Amino acid sequence: MLTAVEDFIGKVREIYGRVDDMEARFAEIRPLLQELLKDEELKEASESWPFRNEPEKGYIENLLFYEDPDYKFVLNSLLKKPHESTPVHDHAHTWTLYGVLRGTEKVIRFERTDTPSEAAGEDEYADLKKISEHEVKPGYIDFVRPYDIHVEHTGEEPVVGVIFRDQRVGGFLQNYYDAETGKINKTKGPVQIPYKLGA
Ligand SMILES: [Fe+2]
Repeated sequence: MLTAVEDFIGKVREIYGRVDDMEARFAEIRPLLQELLKDEELKEASESWPFRNEPEKGYIENLLFYEDPDYKFVLNSLLKKPHESTPVHDHAHTWTLYGVLRGTEKVIRFERTDTPSEAAGEDEYADLKKISEHEVKPGYIDFVRPYDIHVEHTGEEPVVGVIFRDQRVGGFLQNYYDAETGKINKTKGPVQIPYKLGA
């Protein structure tokens, strides 16, 4: 494990032990991730991380660096090749800080203008409205709260993201949205690949 990552995890564990509210926890964790994104050793290590997504086949993976045995939070990476897009998606009930370690990309956020039905899991369509669009660079952090809808498009260069989540994803259904029609597709989300970070 790299020193900066070990340090980050230790500080996050301290926050989890002291603060119960998820919004408040993430407010304290965000500047720690900001620092981590500046770490040269981590940037250097990321040069050898594998790019294996095949979005056209619906295959997206996350490297899984750490899963906390007590608090269940995780540290992931998402690697995207040039001209690669995620689906328009949400992260279901989970909380996420998505940080850009390398590269630049476009992050677009949406909101639903229709009212999700009582059993939101059964909706087949959503009316989506674009609410923001940002060209982002290393150091950028997108705070994705439960059911926030968004998409990322890379440009000329690959993009390496480092992601802090309140829990491991991939074992429950998330929503992918057809950007044109709003049709909702349920999916298990990114495949989690345990990956040893550093020495
Ligand atoms: Fe996302």
